[in-house]
Amino acid sequence: MTISDYNFAGKKAIVRVDFNVPLNENGEITDDTRIRGALPTLKKIIADGGAAIIMSHMGKPKGKVNPKLSLGQIRGAVEKALGCPVAFAPDCAKAQAEAAALKMGEALMLENLRYYPEEEGKPVGIDKEDPAYEEAKKAMKASQKEFAKTLASYADCYVMDAFGTAHRKHASTAVIADYFDADNKMLGFLMEKEVQAVDNVLSNIKRPFVAIMGGSKVSSKIGIIQNLLGKVDKLILCGGMTYTFAKAHGGEIGNSIVELDKLDVALDVEKTAKENGVELILGVDSVCCTGYDFGTFSVKPGAQIKVFPSNAIEAGWDGLDAGPESRKKFAEAIKGAKTILWNGPAGCFECEEFTAGSRAVGEAVAQATAEGAFSLIGGGDSVACCTKFGLTDKVSYISTGGGALLEAIEGKVLPGVAAIKG
Ligand code: 3PG
Repeated sequence: MTISDYNFAGKKAIVRVDFNVPLNENGEITDDTRIRGALPTLKKIIADGGAAIIMSHMGKPKGKVNPKLSLGQIRGAVEKALGCPVAFAPDCAKAQAEAAALKMGEALMLENLRYYPEEEGKPVGIDKEDPAYEEAKKAMKASQKEFAKTLASYADCYVMDAFGTAHRKHASTAVIADYFDADNKMLGFLMEKEVQAVDNVLSNIKRPFVAIMGGSKVSSKIGIIQNLLGKVDKLILCGGMTYTFAKAHGGEIGNSIVELDKLDVALDVEKTAKENGVELILGVDSVCCTGYDFGTFSVKPGAQIKVFPSNAIEAGWDGLDAGPESRKKFAEAIKGAKTILWNGPAGCFECEEFTAGSRAVGEAVAQATAEGAFSLIGGGDSVACCTKFGLTDKVSYISTGGGALLEAIEGKVLPGVAAIKG
Protein backbone atom coordinates (compact mmCIF):
# COMPACT_ATOMS: atom_id res chain seq x y z
CA MET A 1 0.00 0.00 0.00
CA THR A 2 1.41 3.38 -0.92
CA ILE A 3 0.17 6.61 0.56
CA SER A 4 -0.70 8.07 -2.87
CA ASP A 5 -3.26 5.29 -3.43
CA TYR A 6 -4.81 5.50 0.02
CA ASN A 7 -7.97 7.50 0.63
CA PHE A 8 -7.96 8.85 4.18
CA ALA A 9 -11.53 10.21 4.02
CA GLY A 10 -13.28 9.49 7.33
CA LYS A 11 -10.17 7.80 8.74
CA LYS A 12 -7.90 8.58 11.65
CA ALA A 13 -4.28 8.03 10.71
CA ILE A 14 -1.54 7.72 13.31
CA VAL A 15 1.62 9.13 11.74
CA ARG A 16 5.14 8.65 13.10
CA VAL A 17 7.13 11.73 12.18
CA ASP A 18 10.59 12.83 13.30
CA PHE A 19 9.97 16.20 14.93
CA ASN A 20 13.21 15.95 16.87
CA VAL A 21 14.02 19.51 15.78
CA PRO A 22 16.69 21.74 17.31
CA LEU A 23 15.37 24.33 19.79
CA ASN A 24 17.08 27.39 21.23
CA GLU A 25 17.08 28.26 24.94
CA ASN A 26 13.61 29.85 24.57
CA GLY A 27 12.19 26.64 23.12
CA GLU A 28 12.00 28.13 19.61
CA ILE A 29 12.71 25.97 16.58
CA THR A 30 16.03 26.88 14.94
CA ASP A 31 15.68 24.54 11.94
CA ASP A 32 12.25 23.35 10.81
CA THR A 33 13.44 21.12 7.94
CA ARG A 34 11.98 18.01 9.55
CA ILE A 35 8.59 19.63 10.09
CA ARG A 36 8.47 20.83 6.50
CA GLY A 37 9.55 17.34 5.42
CA ALA A 38 6.48 15.71 7.01
CA LEU A 39 3.96 18.24 5.67
CA PRO A 40 3.10 16.52 2.34
CA THR A 41 1.94 13.40 4.19
CA LEU A 42 0.03 15.27 6.89
CA LYS A 43 -1.58 17.59 4.34
CA LYS A 44 -2.70 14.66 2.17
CA ILE A 45 -4.45 13.06 5.17
CA ILE A 46 -6.26 16.30 6.00
CA ALA A 47 -7.05 17.15 2.35
CA ASP A 48 -8.55 13.67 1.81
CA GLY A 49 -10.95 14.40 4.69
CA GLY A 50 -9.14 12.36 7.31
CA ALA A 51 -7.60 13.22 10.68
CA ALA A 52 -3.93 12.97 11.65
CA ILE A 53 -2.60 11.80 15.00
CA ILE A 54 0.99 13.01 14.98
CA MET A 55 3.52 11.23 17.15
CA SER A 56 7.24 11.80 17.61
CA HIS A 57 10.10 11.73 20.05
CA MET A 58 12.21 14.73 20.97
CA GLY A 59 15.72 14.33 22.34
CA LYS A 60 16.63 11.58 24.75
CA PRO A 61 14.48 11.88 27.92
CA LYS A 62 15.35 8.25 28.75
CA GLY A 63 11.88 7.15 29.78
CA LYS A 64 11.18 10.13 32.06
CA VAL A 65 9.05 13.25 31.73
CA ASN A 66 11.28 16.23 30.90
CA PRO A 67 9.44 19.50 30.16
CA LYS A 68 12.46 20.81 28.22
CA LEU A 69 11.78 18.04 25.70
CA SER A 70 8.03 18.52 25.51
CA LEU A 71 6.51 18.46 22.04
CA GLY A 72 3.98 20.95 23.40
CA GLN A 73 6.62 23.59 22.65
CA ILE A 74 6.28 23.05 18.92
CA ARG A 75 2.51 22.47 18.69
CA GLY A 76 1.89 26.08 17.57
CA ALA A 77 4.57 25.89 14.87
CA VAL A 78 3.12 22.61 13.57
CA GLU A 79 -0.38 24.08 13.53
CA LYS A 80 0.87 27.09 11.56
CA ALA A 81 2.77 24.91 9.08
CA LEU A 82 -0.10 22.49 8.62
CA GLY A 83 -2.82 25.13 8.40
CA CYS A 84 -5.43 23.26 10.47
CA PRO A 85 -6.17 23.00 14.21
CA VAL A 86 -3.66 20.81 16.05
CA ALA A 87 -4.78 19.67 19.51
CA PHE A 88 -2.31 18.29 22.06
CA ALA A 89 -2.45 15.14 24.19
CA PRO A 90 -0.15 15.61 27.21
CA ASP A 91 0.22 11.87 27.81
CA CYS A 92 0.86 9.81 24.69
CA ALA A 93 -0.19 6.54 26.34
CA LYS A 94 -3.45 7.94 27.76
CA ALA A 95 -4.75 9.84 24.76
CA GLN A 96 -7.92 7.78 24.15
CA ALA A 97 -10.24 10.70 24.93
CA GLU A 98 -8.35 13.19 22.76
CA ALA A 99 -8.17 10.67 19.90
CA ALA A 100 -11.90 9.95 20.17
CA ALA A 101 -12.70 13.68 20.16
CA LEU A 102 -10.57 14.35 17.08
CA LYS A 103 -12.60 15.64 14.14
CA MET A 104 -11.94 14.92 10.49
CA GLY A 105 -9.85 17.68 8.88
CA GLU A 106 -7.99 18.26 12.15
CA ALA A 107 -4.86 16.95 13.85
CA LEU A 108 -3.78 15.84 17.30
CA MET A 109 -0.19 15.78 18.47
CA LEU A 110 0.89 13.35 21.18
CA GLU A 111 3.43 14.23 23.86
CA ASN A 112 7.01 12.92 23.51
CA LEU A 113 6.90 9.15 23.05
CA ARG A 114 10.23 8.73 24.84
CA TYR A 115 8.75 9.87 28.15
CA TYR A 116 7.88 6.16 28.27
CA PRO A 117 10.78 3.65 28.34
CA GLU A 118 8.50 1.29 26.39
CA GLU A 119 9.03 3.42 23.28
CA GLU A 120 12.68 2.39 23.02
CA GLY A 121 12.01 -0.96 24.71
CA LYS A 122 15.20 -1.07 26.76
CA PRO A 123 15.00 -2.05 30.44
CA VAL A 124 15.79 0.90 32.71
CA GLY A 125 17.76 0.97 35.92
CA ILE A 126 19.37 -2.42 35.41
CA ASP A 127 22.86 -3.15 34.24
CA LYS A 128 23.51 -5.46 31.27
CA GLU A 129 25.83 -7.51 33.53
CA ASP A 130 23.07 -8.03 36.12
CA PRO A 131 21.86 -11.68 36.12
CA ALA A 132 18.27 -10.39 36.13
CA TYR A 133 18.84 -8.35 32.96
CA GLU A 134 17.51 -10.94 30.48
CA GLU A 135 14.26 -11.29 32.48
CA ALA A 136 13.90 -7.51 32.65
CA LYS A 137 14.46 -7.30 28.90
CA LYS A 138 11.74 -9.88 28.23
CA ALA A 139 9.32 -8.03 30.50
CA MET A 140 10.12 -4.74 28.76
CA LYS A 141 9.55 -6.25 25.32
CA ALA A 142 6.09 -7.37 26.50
CA SER A 143 5.24 -3.90 27.81
CA GLN A 144 6.59 -2.39 24.61
CA LYS A 145 4.02 -4.42 22.67
CA GLU A 146 1.26 -3.18 24.98
CA PHE A 147 2.45 0.40 24.52
CA ALA A 148 2.47 0.00 20.71
CA LYS A 149 -1.00 -1.59 20.84
CA THR A 150 -2.33 1.39 22.82
CA LEU A 151 -0.94 3.83 20.25
CA ALA A 152 -2.43 1.74 17.44
CA SER A 153 -5.84 1.73 19.14
CA TYR A 154 -6.21 5.49 18.51
CA ALA A 155 -6.36 5.12 14.74
CA ASP A 156 -7.66 3.24 11.68
CA CYS A 157 -4.35 3.25 9.82
CA TYR A 158 -0.63 3.80 10.38
CA VAL A 159 1.81 5.89 8.37
CA MET A 160 5.56 5.70 8.97
CA ASP A 161 7.14 8.98 7.85
CA ALA A 162 10.02 9.41 10.32
CA PHE A 163 13.07 8.73 8.18
CA GLY A 164 15.40 10.25 10.79
CA THR A 165 14.29 7.57 13.26
CA ALA A 166 13.72 4.70 10.83
CA HIS A 167 16.95 2.99 11.99
CA ARG A 168 15.38 2.48 15.43
CA LYS A 169 13.24 -0.57 16.14
CA HIS A 170 10.99 1.29 18.55
CA ALA A 171 7.32 0.91 19.50
CA SER A 172 6.19 3.75 17.24
CA THR A 173 8.58 3.14 14.34
CA ALA A 174 8.23 -0.62 13.93
CA VAL A 175 6.32 -2.61 16.59
CA ILE A 176 3.08 -0.67 16.06
CA ALA A 177 2.89 -1.90 12.46
CA ASP A 178 1.97 -5.38 13.77
CA TYR A 179 -1.38 -3.99 14.88
CA PHE A 180 -2.51 -2.96 11.40
CA ASP A 181 -3.28 -5.15 8.42
CA ALA A 182 -1.23 -4.77 5.23
CA ASP A 183 -3.86 -2.51 3.61
CA ASN A 184 -3.79 -0.03 6.47
CA LYS A 185 -0.08 0.64 7.01
CA MET A 186 2.22 2.47 4.66
CA LEU A 187 5.29 4.65 4.27
CA GLY A 188 4.65 8.39 3.98
CA PHE A 189 5.83 10.69 1.20
CA LEU A 190 9.01 11.72 3.04
CA MET A 191 10.02 8.10 3.60
CA GLU A 192 9.35 7.33 -0.06
CA LYS A 193 11.52 10.28 -1.15
CA GLU A 194 14.35 9.38 1.23
CA VAL A 195 14.31 5.70 0.26
CA GLN A 196 14.36 6.72 -3.43
CA ALA A 197 17.30 9.09 -2.83
CA VAL A 198 19.27 6.33 -1.09
CA ASP A 199 18.40 3.97 -3.93
CA ASN A 200 19.80 6.50 -6.42
CA VAL A 201 23.22 6.27 -4.77
CA LEU A 202 23.16 2.56 -3.94
CA SER A 203 21.53 0.88 -6.93
CA ASN A 204 20.47 3.28 -9.61
CA ILE A 205 23.97 4.77 -9.97
CA LYS A 206 24.96 7.04 -12.86
CA ARG A 207 28.72 7.25 -13.26
CA PRO A 208 31.10 8.67 -12.33
CA PHE A 209 29.98 8.31 -8.72
CA VAL A 210 31.89 10.51 -6.27
CA ALA A 211 31.40 10.26 -2.51
CA ILE A 212 32.72 12.87 -0.12
CA MET A 213 33.05 11.72 3.48
CA GLY A 214 34.09 14.25 6.05
CA GLY A 215 33.93 14.63 9.79
CA SER A 216 36.38 13.95 12.52
CA LYS A 217 36.50 10.19 12.97
CA VAL A 218 37.27 7.26 10.70
CA SER A 219 35.68 4.95 13.29
CA SER A 220 32.20 6.49 13.01
CA LYS A 221 32.25 6.30 9.21
CA ILE A 222 34.06 3.03 8.56
CA GLY A 223 30.90 0.98 7.86
CA ILE A 224 29.72 3.38 5.21
CA ILE A 225 33.23 3.86 3.76
CA GLN A 226 33.62 0.10 3.33
CA ASN A 227 30.26 -0.19 1.60
CA LEU A 228 31.04 2.76 -0.67
CA LEU A 229 34.41 1.31 -1.69
CA GLY A 230 32.43 -1.34 -3.57
CA LYS A 231 30.36 1.24 -5.41
CA VAL A 232 32.06 4.59 -6.03
CA ASP A 233 34.57 5.66 -8.67
CA LYS A 234 36.16 8.31 -6.44
CA LEU A 235 36.12 8.72 -2.68
CA ILE A 236 37.16 12.00 -1.10
CA LEU A 237 38.02 11.66 2.59
CA CYS A 238 38.31 15.00 4.32
CA GLY A 239 37.89 16.71 7.69
CA GLY A 240 39.57 15.34 10.80
CA MET A 241 39.94 11.89 9.24
CA THR A 242 42.77 13.33 7.14
CA TYR A 243 45.16 13.16 10.08
CA THR A 244 44.57 9.51 10.91
CA PHE A 245 45.55 8.71 7.31
CA ALA A 246 48.57 11.05 7.44
CA LYS A 247 49.71 9.50 10.74
CA ALA A 248 49.27 5.98 9.36
CA HIS A 249 52.00 6.87 6.85
CA GLY A 250 54.27 8.27 9.55
CA GLY A 251 53.37 11.93 8.91
CA GLU A 252 53.73 14.72 11.45
CA ILE A 253 50.29 16.06 12.35
CA GLY A 254 51.01 18.44 15.24
CA ASN A 255 48.03 18.66 17.60
CA SER A 256 45.48 17.58 15.00
CA ILE A 257 42.72 15.13 15.88
CA VAL A 258 43.78 11.52 15.32
CA GLU A 259 42.58 8.00 16.14
CA LEU A 260 45.79 6.19 16.94
CA ASP A 261 43.98 2.88 17.28
CA LYS A 262 42.59 3.20 13.74
CA LEU A 263 45.84 3.57 11.77
CA ASP A 264 45.52 0.01 10.47
CA VAL A 265 41.91 0.71 9.48
CA ALA A 266 43.10 3.70 7.44
CA LEU A 267 45.74 1.58 5.66
CA ASP A 268 43.12 -1.06 5.03
CA VAL A 269 40.78 1.48 3.43
CA GLU A 270 43.63 2.52 1.10
CA LYS A 271 44.34 -1.11 0.21
CA THR A 272 40.68 -1.90 -0.54
CA ALA A 273 40.35 1.26 -2.61
CA LYS A 274 43.32 0.17 -4.72
CA GLU A 275 41.99 -3.38 -5.14
CA ASN A 276 38.59 -2.02 -6.20
CA GLY A 277 40.02 0.56 -8.59
CA VAL A 278 38.58 3.41 -6.53
CA GLU A 279 40.46 6.70 -6.67
CA LEU A 280 40.96 7.74 -3.06
CA ILE A 281 41.46 11.47 -2.62
CA LEU A 282 42.87 12.82 0.62
CA GLY A 283 43.76 16.39 1.57
CA VAL A 284 47.38 17.30 0.90
CA ASP A 285 47.49 20.57 2.85
CA SER A 286 45.67 21.96 5.85
CA VAL A 287 44.76 25.32 7.34
CA CYS A 288 46.14 25.07 10.88
CA CYS A 289 45.83 27.12 14.02
CA THR A 290 47.72 27.45 17.30
CA GLY A 291 44.66 28.12 19.46
CA TYR A 292 41.15 27.00 18.47
CA ASP A 293 38.35 26.90 21.00
CA PHE A 294 36.22 23.86 20.12
CA GLY A 295 33.59 24.93 22.69
CA THR A 296 32.82 28.32 21.17
CA PHE A 297 34.01 27.54 17.62
CA SER A 298 36.39 30.49 17.65
CA VAL A 299 40.06 31.35 17.32
CA LYS A 300 41.53 32.29 20.70
CA PRO A 301 42.98 35.81 20.94
CA GLY A 302 46.57 35.94 19.69
CA ALA A 303 46.42 32.52 18.01
CA GLN A 304 48.05 32.16 14.59
CA ILE A 305 46.71 30.59 11.39
CA LYS A 306 48.95 29.06 8.69
CA VAL A 307 48.85 26.41 5.93
CA PHE A 308 51.01 23.26 6.30
CA PRO A 309 51.29 20.08 4.25
CA SER A 310 48.83 17.70 5.97
CA ASN A 311 51.66 15.29 6.79
CA ALA A 312 54.13 17.91 8.05
CA ILE A 313 52.24 19.94 10.62
CA GLU A 314 54.48 21.42 13.31
CA ALA A 315 53.99 20.70 16.98
CA GLY A 316 51.48 23.07 18.59
CA TRP A 317 49.42 23.47 15.39
CA ASP A 318 46.02 21.93 14.84
CA GLY A 319 44.75 21.05 11.32
CA LEU A 320 41.25 22.55 11.06
CA ASP A 321 40.39 22.86 7.38
CA ALA A 322 41.41 21.75 3.90
CA GLY A 323 44.16 23.95 2.46
CA PRO A 324 44.13 25.55 -1.03
CA GLU A 325 45.75 22.59 -2.84
CA SER A 326 43.32 20.14 -1.22
CA ARG A 327 40.36 22.31 -2.14
CA LYS A 328 41.50 22.36 -5.76
CA LYS A 329 41.91 18.55 -5.75
CA PHE A 330 38.46 18.03 -4.23
CA ALA A 331 36.75 20.38 -6.69
CA GLU A 332 38.49 18.70 -9.66
CA ALA A 333 37.42 15.26 -8.43
CA ILE A 334 33.78 16.36 -8.07
CA LYS A 335 33.68 18.05 -11.49
CA GLY A 336 31.91 15.85 -14.04
CA ALA A 337 30.39 13.50 -11.44
CA LYS A 338 26.94 12.16 -12.25
CA THR A 339 26.13 10.77 -8.78
CA ILE A 340 27.33 12.48 -5.60
CA LEU A 341 26.99 11.65 -1.93
CA TRP A 342 28.24 14.17 0.62
CA ASN A 343 28.33 13.40 4.32
CA GLY A 344 30.45 15.35 6.76
CA PRO A 345 32.23 18.70 6.49
CA ALA A 346 35.80 19.25 5.28
CA GLY A 347 36.77 21.41 8.25
CA CYS A 348 35.54 23.30 11.31
CA PHE A 349 33.02 25.17 9.17
CA GLU A 350 31.31 26.68 12.23
CA CYS A 351 34.19 29.19 12.40
CA GLU A 352 34.58 31.66 9.52
CA GLU A 353 38.37 31.11 9.28
CA PHE A 354 37.86 27.39 8.52
CA THR A 355 34.89 27.36 6.15
CA ALA A 356 36.82 27.36 2.85
CA GLY A 357 37.18 23.57 2.57
CA SER A 358 33.50 22.80 3.10
CA ARG A 359 32.52 25.74 0.90
CA ALA A 360 34.72 24.47 -1.93
CA VAL A 361 33.16 21.01 -1.66
CA GLY A 362 29.61 22.43 -1.47
CA GLU A 363 30.12 24.73 -4.45
CA ALA A 364 31.64 21.95 -6.55
CA VAL A 365 28.69 19.70 -5.68
CA ALA A 366 26.25 22.48 -6.65
CA GLN A 367 28.11 23.03 -9.94
CA ALA A 368 28.06 19.32 -10.81
CA THR A 369 24.36 19.21 -9.93
CA ALA A 370 23.70 22.13 -12.31
CA GLU A 371 25.46 20.03 -14.97
CA GLY A 372 23.14 17.06 -14.41
CA ALA A 373 24.45 15.12 -11.42
CA PHE A 374 22.18 13.66 -8.74
CA SER A 375 23.52 14.88 -5.38
CA LEU A 376 22.44 13.55 -2.00
CA ILE A 377 23.49 15.47 1.10
CA GLY A 378 23.03 14.00 4.54
CA GLY A 379 24.12 14.40 8.13
CA GLY A 380 23.48 17.49 10.25
CA ASP A 381 26.82 19.18 9.57
CA SER A 382 26.85 18.92 5.78
CA VAL A 383 23.22 20.05 5.72
CA ALA A 384 24.23 23.02 7.93
CA CYS A 385 27.03 23.77 5.42
CA CYS A 386 24.52 23.87 2.55
CA THR A 387 22.34 26.26 4.53
CA LYS A 388 25.30 28.44 5.53
CA PHE A 389 26.62 28.69 1.97
CA GLY A 390 23.17 29.20 0.38
CA LEU A 391 23.32 25.90 -1.51
CA THR A 392 20.14 24.14 -0.33
CA ASP A 393 18.33 24.75 -3.62
CA LYS A 394 21.38 23.87 -5.69
CA VAL A 395 21.71 20.22 -4.69
CA SER A 396 19.32 17.42 -5.63
CA TYR A 397 18.25 16.12 -2.25
CA ILE A 398 18.92 16.99 1.38
CA SER A 399 18.15 14.09 3.68
CA THR A 400 16.43 14.60 7.03
CA GLY A 401 18.32 11.58 8.36
CA GLY A 402 21.58 11.52 10.30
CA GLY A 403 22.25 8.04 11.69
CA ALA A 404 19.38 6.63 9.62
CA LEU A 405 20.93 7.82 6.36
CA LEU A 406 24.34 6.40 7.28
CA GLU A 407 22.82 3.01 8.12
CA ALA A 408 20.79 3.00 4.92
CA ILE A 409 23.90 3.75 2.87
CA GLU A 410 25.82 1.09 4.75
CA GLY A 411 23.29 -1.20 3.09
CA LYS A 412 21.36 -2.05 6.26
CA VAL A 413 17.61 -2.62 6.10
CA LEU A 414 15.98 0.05 8.27
CA PRO A 415 13.52 -1.41 10.81
CA GLY A 416 11.04 1.37 10.05
CA VAL A 417 10.99 0.31 6.41
CA ALA A 418 11.01 -3.43 7.13
CA ALA A 419 7.99 -3.05 9.44
CA ILE A 420 5.93 -1.86 6.48
CA LYS A 421 7.49 -3.69 3.57
CA GLY A 422 8.23 -6.95 5.38
C1 3PG B 1 18.07 12.11 14.94
O1 3PG B 1 18.07 13.26 15.39
O2 3PG B 1 19.05 11.63 14.32
C2 3PG B 1 16.81 11.30 15.05
O3 3PG B 1 15.76 12.05 15.55
C3 3PG B 1 17.05 10.05 15.86
O4 3PG B 1 17.36 10.38 17.16
P1 3PG B 1 18.09 9.31 18.10
O5 3PG B 1 19.50 9.17 17.61
O6 3PG B 1 17.97 9.89 19.49
O7 3PG B 1 17.33 8.01 17.97
